[in-house]
Amino acid sequence: MNGLFISFEGIDGAGKSTHIAGLAEALSNKGCKVTLTREPGGTSLAEKLRTLILNDPMDALTESLLIFAARRDHVQTVIRPALARGEVVLCDRFTDATYAYQGAGRGFDLDLLKTLEKWVHGTRASHVAYGLQADSMLQPNLTYWFDLAPELAAKRLANARVPDKFESQPVVFFEAVRDGYHVRALADPHRFARIEANQSKEEVFADVIQVAKDRGYL
Ligand code: TYD
Repeated sequence: MNGLFISFEGIDGAGKSTHIAGLAEALSNKGCKVTLTREPGGTSLAEKLRTLILNDPMDALTESLLIFAARRDHVQTVIRPALARGEVVLCDRFTDATYAYQGAGRGFDLDLLKTLEKWVHGTRASHVAYGLQADSMLQPNLTYWFDLAPELAAKRLANARVPDKFESQPVVFFEAVRDGYHVRALADPHRFARIEANQSKEEVFADVIQVAKDRGYL
């Protein structure tokens, strides 16, 4: 596998979406073949699960299982094949979001999330016994973390569309999610690039491009 896997994270309202499209364009202009995708979603099955996850009330275990079920289909049918072809995969959220939203936000058991992560895109010797391929651990090469204070993000969201199940959570939920991202970033400082999202769109995008240049991707 020699492609490049980049994920984009942050609390709702941090404003990552336009920058994902911008980075995709910059990489394409450089001659890279780019696969733009998102989680939950990215496949026909996973997009159906996304609708349920974002709209239907459910307990944290059901939510986590559905998110990882969607992720399994996405990893197996889109992400790993694209990376194997040497492409760049830009993914709007990945497993860090599960640690931040279901783990830190919803207070769900991190050990169980770790187990699900290993099953879905990690290494497990027992995979072979279950007829699953014992793949190597799949992690993004780079994770952009768009960091913004939850009160500012809430103001941005207030002017946007009708909120989904997560977007309608109170500021205190997003404080916990933000803390969750912070913990993830501290644990993996080489993979994470924190982007100060409390700047103009142009300044944020300049930072996004600079990180890609510093890593030799642009
Ligand atoms: P988001 O990426 O913000 O998409 P959009 O900009 O179209 O609203 O929405 C995805 C939502 O799903 C977001 O509120 C976070 C949530 N989510 C989780 O709770 N756990 C996860 O593992 C993932 C990938 C997303």
